[in-house]
Amino acid sequence: MSRILVTGGAGYIGSITVALLLQRGYEVTVLDDCSTGHADAVPANVTFYQGSILDGALVRKALEGCDAVIHFAAKSLVGESVEKPDLYRNNNINGSQILFDEMDGAGVTRIVVSSSAATYGDSKEQPILETHKAHPTNPYGETKLAVDNSLADLAAEENFAAISLRYFNVAGALKGEAGWIAERHNPETHLIPNVLKATKDQPLKIFGTDWKTKDGTCIRDYIHVVDLAEAHVLALDALKAGSHEIINLGSGGGYSVREVVDTASKVVGYEIPAVNVDRRAGDPAVLIASIDKAKSLLQWSPTRNLEAMIRDAYETLKAV
Ligand code: UFG
Repeated sequence: MSRILVTGGAGYIGSITVALLLQRGYEVTVLDDCSTGHADAVPANVTFYQGSILDGALVRKALEGCDAVIHFAAKSLVGESVEKPDLYRNNNINGSQILFDEMDGAGVTRIVVSSSAATYGDSKEQPILETHKAHPTNPYGETKLAVDNSLADLAAEENFAAISLRYFNVAGALKGEAGWIAERHNPETHLIPNVLKATKDQPLKIFGTDWKTKDGTCIRDYIHVVDLAEAHVLALDALKAGSHEIINLGSGGGYSVREVVDTASKVVGYEIPAVNVDRRAGDPAVLIASIDKAKSLLQWSPTRNLEAMIRDAYETLKAV
C-alpha cells in the first residue's frame, strides 16, 4: 500500500485531500505546524507530526515509509505577502527547499505541489495557459514561482517526478463522515466566506470598482475544493520520473466580485450587504484558467459550479 506525506494536511485544502486519499485506500502521514491549519482536522488513522517544513530532522522523520509527497504547507495570502514578504520567502521558498533536500536524501522523488495562479500576475491573455510567461504581482506569487522553478531543476537534475498544480480561487467544503470540513481562516480574507459572513453592521467590502472589467470589479475563476482535491489524487498517478508538469486547476470561466455577491444573495435568500472600497494591494484584475491540460493529462474536469461552492460554504457556517 502506498503512503503519502501530506505537508499542510491540517489546512483547508490539505485536510480535504487527506480525506479523499484515505477514501481511495492510501495511507497518510501529515506534517503541519498548525499556524493556519487545525490539529483537529487530522483524522485519527493518520500519522501526524505537528511541526514545520523548516525543521529538516522532522521532515526526515515524517518521510519515513512514504513513497510520494503532496506539498501544501505554505503561507498563502496575497495581501499578507505584500506586508510580510520575508515571512513568505522563508516559509515558502526555504521551507520547500528543505523538504526537497530531505526527499532527495531519503530517495523519495515523487511530488505533487500546490502552486498558484498568483504566479501569472496581470495577464492580458485570458484564459491563461500554463505556457504563459509568469510575472507575479505580489511576493506570494513570486515564492510559488520560485518553488515551481526549483522543481523543474530537480526533475532535470535528480530525476524527480513532479507536478505543480496552479490553483485559481478555491471555495466550498466537503461533507465527510464526521461532518463538514471547511475553510477556517482567522482572519478570513477570502471572498466567498466574507460574503456569507457579511451583515448590515459589517458589510462585505468590495475591493475596487474601477478595474477594466465588465462591472468594474475583479474577475476570478472559482473552483470547488472537492474538485481540486480530486485532481491531487489523480496527479499522483500522472507523475513521471524526470518530468515536471505545471497544470492549472480552475473552472475555465470567470465571475466578477459583484456576480459572486449576486449568486450568494440568491443562495442565502437575502441581499448580501456590501460597500465599495479602494482596491486591495497586489490584486490582478482578471484571472481565468485554461484547463485543457488538466483535462488531458489528469482526465479531470470540474463538476461543481459556483452556486454549489457557495451553498456548501453556507451549510458549514450554519453547522457551526
Ligand atoms: N475581495 C473583496 N472583498 C473581500 C475579499 C476579497 O472584494 O472581502 C475580492 C478581492 O479583491 C479579489 C477577489 O475578491 O478581487 C478574490 O479575493 P480572494 O481574497 O478570495 O482571493 P485572491 O484572488 O486574492 O487569492 C486567492 C488565493 C491565492 C491564489 C489566488 C489565485 O488566496 O492563494 O486566489 O487566483 F493565489
